[in-house]
Amino acid sequence: MTQITVELGEHSYPILVQPGALEQAATHLKAFASNQRLFVLTDEHVGSALLPRLRQAFAGSGIELVVNRLPAGETSKSWQQLELVTDWLLGQGVERSDTLVALGGGVIGDLTGFAAAIVKRGCGFVQIPTSLLAQVDSSVGGKTAINSSVGKNLIGSFNQPRFVLIDPLVLNSLPDRELRAGYAEVVKYGLINDASFFRWCEANSEQLFNRDPDALSEAIIHSVRAKALIVGEDEKELSGRRALLNLGHTFGHALEAETGFSDRLVHGEAVAAGMALAFGYSVRRGHCDAAAAERVTAHLKSVDLPYNLSSASVRASGQRLVDHMMHDKKMSGGSLPFLLANGIGQSFLAKDVDLDDVVAFLDESD
Ligand code: GLY
Repeated sequence: MTQITVELGEHSYPILVQPGALEQAATHLKAFASNQRLFVLTDEHVGSALLPRLRQAFAGSGIELVVNRLPAGETSKSWQQLELVTDWLLGQGVERSDTLVALGGGVIGDLTGFAAAIVKRGCGFVQIPTSLLAQVDSSVGGKTAINSSVGKNLIGSFNQPRFVLIDPLVLNSLPDRELRAGYAEVVKYGLINDASFFRWCEANSEQLFNRDPDALSEAIIHSVRAKALIVGEDEKELSGRRALLNLGHTFGHALEAETGFSDRLVHGEAVAAGMALAFGYSVRRGHCDAAAAERVTAHLKSVDLPYNLSSASVRASGQRLVDHMMHDKKMSGGSLPFLLANGIGQSFLAKDVDLDDVVAFLDESD
């Protein structure tokens, strides 16, 4: 069992990583059931697989689980679903002292966190992330949001959970594609500032994809530690430190937009290709040697993640892709910050990127 703390003063909270933690959920969560009940939000898929185990964990605890199963998928991050959820909570008599439990991936975590921020002007929430992406990224750090007709994640708040309970064993039932997509965010931590962790990824990805519990736990613990540190330094992405977590996301956003934010290219896959493009562009600008970029590409390729435009099935002009980037929420003061790299584990925020040069780079890219 490993406990990591996100240090945010009075909003600090622990993240517990423990194989089998789901079965111990009543012990870990009973302190949050102030009214002897917890409001659990989950989706149809996760609910079928894991809700019976959560209920079993609470059997005989005296704590009631009040459950709402939402439709699975990104469409649940909508005003309409938020309204349904908040109306349901109010109908159930939710109080500010109550705690919501997000049992699911990033969609459930984001929606639950945002509902917790606004219902009755705020109640608590805890996360039980059930996808690799949610375990290593979205459940940690308090970014909560829904999508609007203008774009993804544009309506939301920073709202930190009170506790995150991570059970690596729940990943055993995660589809391969989702495991791979989450793994892109794991690799990201090595590329941002930890070359030795990238080496670990190169050496251990095979075990991880064989769902070796030790490899999965190590990847999760390392990623959560790295993210907790960055969030503790720059909770609201003001100093530029937290922006490092967006490595690969600006290029990736363009690829996601081009593929309609659809199953053609899921977020983690777009981030993978986006990181390879960020390294390729860093080589073009003279920041990084070509061998480092080739190593990134080779690793992504070895785990069957997209590593360039064609492997992401994107065929669009550079201008069209840059136009997508201009609609990204990361735009600031009329310019677009890019995460580039001096090498593996040496990422930095570049604010002086010439977009015409990015267009030319993308036009020349495979
Ligand atoms: N996923 C990026 C962040 O949490 O800041």
